[in-house]
Amino acid sequence: MTAAQHPTLWLTGLSGAGKTSIALALAQALKAQGRAATVLDGDQLRHGLNRDLGFTPEDRHENIRRAAEVARLMNEAGLIVIAALISPYRSDRAMAAQIIGAPQFVEVYVSTPLEVCEARDVKGLYAKARAGQIAQFTGISAPYEAPLAPALTLDTGALALDESVERLCRCLQRRA
Ligand code: ADX
Repeated sequence: MTAAQHPTLWLTGLSGAGKTSIALALAQALKAQGRAATVLDGDQLRHGLNRDLGFTPEDRHENIRRAAEVARLMNEAGLIVIAALISPYRSDRAMAAQIIGAPQFVEVYVSTPLEVCEARDVKGLYAKARAGQIAQFTGISAPYEAPLAPALTLDTGALALDESVERLCRCLQRRA
């Protein structure tokens, strides 16, 4: 694989869908195979590079744009990138594909249903969103546009973590 061909697996889905868990487990599995991989996580980016951004459509757009630019640089540096961002708008994901390069961009829909994400409520954010304490919360008071033709769909309500990782590894192998 030449450097230019290293992919970004772009994990999109609701908050609490399991994007970060899958991303970290996949990165670990790839590293165990001796492949260079890294995770770009929305929550993490928002603590540093994107700390000036909120959750308006415009700010999410800028969030995705910056994440995609970083992913592209990392792909060019020889890394497989696993990006985990809600990225709720189709148009923003299309922009990410354009920045990263359509052949390198692998869209993965983490399709865990809202009911499951909300029942988990790992960060307590759904309860706050329902109580009106968080505005524009994806799935509650802001939209989520599901991918129309993802390379892979993973529902962590129905799949064990290692099964999701295996499917992603197979997806990468098919691509290679
Ligand atoms: S994105 O929509 O711009 O792609 P991103 O993935 O970076 O979102 O960040 C999502 C994370 O921010 C969520 O997992 C959650 O922890 C936190 N968050 C805080 N406020 C919101 C909100 N209004 N909508 C969605 N997520 C939010």
